[in-house]
Amino acid sequence: MYKQVQTIMDLKTENAAIADESKFEYKRILTGDRPTGPLHLGHYAGSLKNRVRLQDKYETFILIADIQALTTNFEHPEKLKDNIFLVALDNLSAGIDPNLSTIVIQSMIPEISELTTFFSMLISINPLKHNPTIKTEAKERGYEELTYGFLGYPVSQTADIAVFKADLVPVGIDQLPHIELARKIIRKFNELYCGKLVEPYALIDKFPRLVGLDGNLKMSKSYGNAINLSDDYDSIKTKIRSALTDKNRIHPTDRGNPDICTIYSYHRAFSDENLIKETEYNCKNGKIGCVKCKDNLFEVIKKLLEPMNERRAYYLDNKDEIWDILLTGTAKAKAIASETIKEVKESMKMLYILP
Ligand code: TRP
Repeated sequence: MYKQVQTIMDLKTENAAIADESKFEYKRILTGDRPTGPLHLGHYAGSLKNRVRLQDKYETFILIADIQALTTNFEHPEKLKDNIFLVALDNLSAGIDPNLSTIVIQSMIPEISELTTFFSMLISINPLKHNPTIKTEAKERGYEELTYGFLGYPVSQTADIAVFKADLVPVGIDQLPHIELARKIIRKFNELYCGKLVEPYALIDKFPRLVGLDGNLKMSKSYGNAINLSDDYDSIKTKIRSALTDKNRIHPTDRGNPDICTIYSYHRAFSDENLIKETEYNCKNGKIGCVKCKDNLFEVIKKLLEPMNERRAYYLDNKDEIWDILLTGTAKAKAIASETIKEVKESMKMLYILP
């Protein structure tokens, strides 16, 4: 079913890194977020929504990747604690059930850093330098020189996946090169040391990335063009009203082109089939003004966020519960990770002295 990806991206038909759910039995999912600020609708459409659905089917681990966040935000480690809380809150509000999913703080699992070091021997620098996602990200951030940590984050991400023996990694399409790399590193490890680590597959969600309110290709906190899941309704309404539509459309009776309209792309991501069709027809035939169309979208988004805001209010009244969930999740993950590291060292003949 995840083959839908081929309709949105020109991918090779049989991409080895993309899961074919009909062929294998998958068990464990690992997915992650960098705690760099509040999550937005782009995160929801591109991963959170899928994550909530998948937790019923697979054993789910959600990693709050604070060390990975340092690769781009190393000047401000003091912000991590608040951001970890916010990311956990956003996940739980979106419908992640702590009884079904395990939420884990990355830096509290030192085994991940240990495995990163072992893996770093198995990959040369060139494929990292040429990794298209690293290149795009470095360009977007204006980096002229890359730190060792930033260049190597796909290696540390490989350790995130391998330490939990996850076989499925639901990610946005931009993360696909990282999953391919993870498969290569893990395969090399297994071949060299007769290891038993699991080669993961990517699960690519069918939604292409959500565009920003300003029409920019990417909704992103750093571009200031995002609707956060935690925004209040008034500011969401204001943000939607300010969004870029078809610039050539001046009057409500002008014929519009929904394909170049930000608001229409949001309708496609969040509205039901009828409203999508109606919006397309009315826009193309000059039968609806942009303001009305925006207000329709606002109602859809409000309805989407209402149950999330109920859960958010509960957790904001019970903040300690979030830290408890993180502590329990991290402890469970730690037990799995230390088991894996023991196996890793065993295959590498590095269990020198047994306690
Ligand atoms: N790189 C991912 C992102 O920026 C976050 C992440 C960290 C992740 N570790 C992971 C995703 C492991 C999947 C698996 O969104």
